[in-house]
Order: sequence, then structure tokens, then C-alpha cells
Amino acid sequence: MKTKKILIVGTGETADLAYEYFTYDSEYEVCGFCVNRQYIKENQKCGLNITAIEDIEDKYDKEKYHLFVAIASSKLNYDRTKVYNELKNKGWKFASYISSKAFVWHNAQIGENCFILENNTIQPFTKVGNNVTMWSSNHLGHRSVIKDNCFITSHVVISGFCEIGENTFIGVNSTIADNIKIAKDNFIAMSAVVNKNTEENGLYTGNPAKKAGISAKEYFGVL
Ligand SMILES: CC(C)(COP(=O)(O)OP(=O)(O)OC[C@H]1O[C@@H](n2cnc3c(N)ncnc32)[C@H](O)[C@@H]1OP(=O)(O)O)[C@@H](O)C(=O)NCCC(=O)NCCS
Repeated sequence: MKTKKILIVGTGETADLAYEYFTYDSEYEVCGFCVNRQYIKENQKCGLNITAIEDIEDKYDKEKYHLFVAIASSKLNYDRTKVYNELKNKGWKFASYISSKAFVWHNAQIGENCFILENNTIQPFTKVGNNVTMWSSNHLGHRSVIKDNCFITSHVVISGFCEIGENTFIGVNSTIADNIKIAKDNFIAMSAVVNKNTEENGLYTGNPAKKAGISAKEYFGVL
């Protein structure tokens, strides 16, 4: 049953997927899309209106609609986070999508504007911050914390008692040992095996994971 209304922010592939997941597996009715005026190429998507972000306050009531910012991990998540923060500062509320096919223990805490896809395992006493994507089939071990604006791709194992710092991207099939602190602004490459705490703004590859010569922000062009 659809009991709440949502607008999806974005018009790319992530927005297409958000439309699918919210429409077929949530209590939210998708009522439209929005994007900054400069990116509007057509008036409609999926039969729904595309509105300029600059105009949404005039067309939609903040009390009646939630937003979902559907932007992927570009620039170490900073592109999505910028739009999310701007809209949050204007007083909008945000929905999270949590797949009915994810295993989420009753006392796990999950923030707003999160996108938690199928087959994630989220164990007891875990915390997932705001604006976090967990693509399909990750393991989040007991007592572990994922801070705001992270992107966990697929088949990532985050063992128990870990902390994942803000804005961090963890590539497919990576493994994080128990009690490890991944610092903020990290890029953990696909298949990396992290067995030591990491440093801020590091790009780590390999098994055991080693810090690359270039920083994560430099590599991804974050200013
Ligand atoms: C880190 C990453 C961005 C590097 O990509 P790249 O710049 O195209 O890297 P290249 O293929 O040019 O390789 C550069 C060097 O790094 C090494 N390298 C790259 N990725 C590596 C990895 N994951 N593990 C170990 N070494 C790696 C290469 O062997 C190469 O070494 P060399 O210079 O000695 O030959 C990429 O490997 C990665 O992890 N991408 C994330 C993929 C992912 O998880 N996608 C999910 C999308 S939802």
C-alpha cells in the first residue's frame, strides 16, 4: 500500500533504479523527478513530470513529499552529498529505501536518504548514517558503524566492531577485518583486504591493502 509520496532527485541510471525499487517494493508512491535546471533535457520521465530543483518549493509541499537524492558515487560521493545537503538546508525531509529482501536486525539504525538493496545482511547493534548506499549483498557485522555519505558497492564484508568514515567508497568484493577503522574520504579498491586502520583521504589496493601514491580526492578530482 502506498501511504507516502516521494520525489526522486536525479534523472540518470540511479534515478531509474530508485524509481523501480521505490515503486515495486516500498510504501512510497513516486510522484515526479527533479534535477537542476541546467540538466533538464525532457519534461517527463516514466510518465511523470521533471521539475527544476530551483522550482520545487513552488510546486510541491515540503510537508507532503519526501525527497530521495538518487545520484551515484561520483567524486567520492561529494556530488550526491552536495545536492543532499543543499536540499536538507532548505528544510526538505528524505526517504530511505530498504529492500524487503535485505536482512536488517531489529535494533540496527539506518539514517535518511539511504539506499539499501537486496541481500544485504545488517547485524545487531549496527549503525548506518545518512545518505549511505549499500548496493546488493554486503555483510555489515555486529556493532559496526558506517558514517554519512558512504557508498558500499557489492559483496563487501565489513566485519564486527568496524567504523567506516564519512564519504568513503568501498569497491566490490573488499574485505575489512574486525575492529578496523577506515578513515574518512577513503577509496578502498575492489578486492582489497584491509587489516590495519587507514589514513584520511587514502586510496588503498591489494591484499594486504596498501596506500597508493595518489590520494583518493586527487584520483577522483574532488576539489
Ligand atoms: C582502484 C581503481 C579505481 C583503479 O582503477 P584504474 O585506475 O583503472 O587502475 P588500472 O587498471 O589502470 O591499474 C593501475 C595499477 O593499479 C593496480 N590496481 C588497480 N586496481 C587494483 C586493485 N583493485 N587491486 C590491486 N591492484 C590494483 C593495477 O594492477 C595497476 O598496477 P601497475 O601500474 O603495476 O600495472 C579500480 O581498480 C577499482 O577498484 N575500481 C572500483 C570498482 C568497483 O568496485 N566498482 C563498483 C561499481 S558499483
